[in-house]
Parts: sequence; structure tokens; C-alpha cells
Amino acid sequence: MIADRLIFDCHVATMEAGGAAYGAIEDAAIVIFDGRISWVGRRSDLPSMEAHHIDRLDGRWVTPGLIDCHTHLVFGGDRSGEFERRLGGATYEQIAREGGGIVSSVAATRAASEDELYASALTRLEGLKTTGVTTVEIKSGYGLDRDSELKMLRVARRIGREAGVRVRTSYLGLHALPPEHRAEGGREAYLDLAVDEILPMAHAEGLVDAVDAYCEPIAFSVGETARLFDRARDLGLPVKLHADQLSDGGGAALAARYGALSADHIEYASEAGVAAMAEAGVVAVLLPGAYLMLRETTPPPVDLLRRHGVDMAVATDCNPGTSPVASMTAALNLACVQFRLTPEEALAGATRIAARALGLSDTVGRIAPCLAADLAVWDVSRPAELCYWLGKPLLARQYVAGNHLG
Ligand code: NIG
Ligand code: FE
Repeated sequence: MIADRLIFDCHVATMEAGGAAYGAIEDAAIVIFDGRISWVGRRSDLPSMEAHHIDRLDGRWVTPGLIDCHTHLVFGGDRSGEFERRLGGATYEQIAREGGGIVSSVAATRAASEDELYASALTRLEGLKTTGVTTVEIKSGYGLDRDSELKMLRVARRIGREAGVRVRTSYLGLHALPPEHRAEGGREAYLDLAVDEILPMAHAEGLVDAVDAYCEPIAFSVGETARLFDRARDLGLPVKLHADQLSDGGGAALAARYGALSADHIEYASEAGVAAMAEAGVVAVLLPGAYLMLRETTPPPVDLLRRHGVDMAVATDCNPGTSPVASMTAALNLACVQFRLTPEEALAGATRIAARALGLSDTVGRIAPCLAADLAVWDVSRPAELCYWLGKPLLARQYVAGNHLG
């Protein structure tokens, strides 16, 4: 057998749990066959072999391609005006209740064509790719009517087909009540539309990998979210949740009750909520960009999560309102500095654990035989450097399914 690619003269952070820190193998080699890793180990143990391509990495570090497991990458316009207002003292809730916030991105997203949404998403995707991302989750939720939600999800799928990264989509129909449903009786009608019409239609078109909601007093209640999750269950779709971001509304426990892939944000989750997540195996997705931009002062309960054995992922939450962050390494740095994750926890949160949060543990997130050959090659002397710099370009190259990502 001739391998497709042999990579050597490198150190590998496999991110396998339970062994050396970062699952590190110094002076390693990686063999790729048919888009997958077929062998990884010490170079001195490498069986003699032939390969079509041989890449010498001059002592660089290799990690799994990073996974950004929570983004709102597709949207129209931007909200820098609101950013200025918040800096002047207005709060996120106040702006949302006045009809700005998410709803102003909804107007811009509805007005944009698929091509325009695709082109603007690519500019942000570039920031993620140049910081090592090879898999990205993308949510809908700025359309909030049938055609605009389907449009967002189609754009996300197009990114997955044409932009050189793996994409997982989430239907986030319950993100905000759209303006045309704010009159008497409109709420119930919107729930009917989102749950009974848009989700089944998007699913039938193959546009949905998971179902998400924004469970918060300014958005949707536990009961309303449960109705959406019941429908997701009927359709055989996994769920995830924006939970307990601004207040303890029982979101973490709700996510646990439905066996969610993840509960995201969770700054205000209670110990009971965390215990329920542990019991149900729900991943906690930490979003330090939103915490920074909202100038939050209550961090997620990281010690409780550790004590209960809840796995923590880290993501950018790239969105126009609360997290205009288009750098995965910035998210790693912020998770360490603001939430006191160790660099090893943060990097696991952007690889092995992020894969769990997307239901992709058997495909990506570690450097191990049979997994996809999605790799990031870094100009660093130790893996912790990936969390240490803020803004320094560190990526030397990356591979998706064993091919160079240009
Ligand atoms: O993840 N929390 C809800 N959704 C986004 C914010 C979206 C927005 O403000 O546009 C978030 O933080
Ligand atoms: Fe979000």
C-alpha cells in the first residue's frame, strides 16, 4: 500500500485524553490514506513505507484542525452602532427590548441575497481558517421567517461545499420574536410557524444537523423551548441550547432533560443544573468572546463544571451583536485569561470536546487512526503558545481530509 501523505519532522498534540499532556508525541510522524489518518506515532517507530507526498515540517507542532462549535457566521450587516451605544452605557437587554439587537440583524439578513450572505460570511470564515479552524458550526436565527431561515441554512451548507471547511448547521428558529409577531397572539403564531412548519421543512431539505434555541427571559421560555425540542426529538435531530447566559432560568437542566449535545454560555447555571448536565453527558460550551463584549462579570462556573466532570468546549460565538470575534486563537486566550481554563483544557475545548459538542467524536477532534486527516500546523514551540498570543499569526498550514487547505 502506498500512503497518500507522510508527515514527519514534527511534534504532535494528538489531544487524546488520559496520557501525556495534550496527548503529545515528540518527534512524531503521521500517515494519511484516503483522507484519514492511518498511523500516528514516534518517527522511530514508523514502519518503512512509500507515500505520494512527503511533508517535512521542520520541528513544528501539529494539532487536530480546530473546531469552532458555536457560531452565527451567516448574517447581514453589522451592529457597530449598538456597540458604540453599549460603550456609552446602554445594556444589551435594553437595546433588545427596544427592538434593536437580534431583530436589527434580522432586517439586514432578510434584505440580503444568498450570494451577499455567502460573501460576507466568507470574510469572517477567513479569520477562523487562519487561526486553524477546519470544522465550523453555523446557526440560523437571523431570518425568523420561513424563506429567510431556509436561506441562511442554504448559505451555511454552501460554505460546507465550497469554502474548504466542514460545516454543521443548527436551526435556531427560537432566537428572538420577529417584529411582525409582536402584536397580541403573535407569539403563539410564531411558535407554530417555527416548530411546526419551518423546522420540518428545513429538515426535509437536509439543511439541519441540530436544533438550538435561546432560552432566556428576553427570548424564549423553558416551556416554549421544550415544545421545539419535542419536535426535534420526533424528527430524530439532536438539540443544543443557549442556556443561562444572562440569568439562571433553568436552561442547563432543560438541556440535560433532553440529552442535549451541549448547553452553551451557562454563566448563571446553578449547581443543580451543572449536576444534571454531568448526569446526562451534556458538554458545556464556553463563549468568552460574548462575556468580554458584554462586559459580563459573572463567569461560567468552571470549578463546578470540573468538580462534576462536565466536559468544556470553547467557541467564538462569532455574531454581530454579542461576539464579533472571528479568531479561534483569540477565543482560546480569552477562555484562559477570563475563565481560568488551563491551556490544555482550552485546546481540548477547541478539538476533542468541541467534536463531542457537535456529535462528531468519531470523525474529527483528535489525531488518531481512522479519524479524518484534518490538521493544523503551527509555528509554536509548545502547545500552550496557542493560548498565549493574542493576535499573532501562528498557523503555518492546515490540511482538511489530508489535502492542503489553500
Ligand atoms: O450567542 N444569545 C443569543 N444569541 C447570540 C447573540 C446574538 C445577537 O445579539 O445577535 C449569542 O450571544
Ligand atoms: Fe450564540
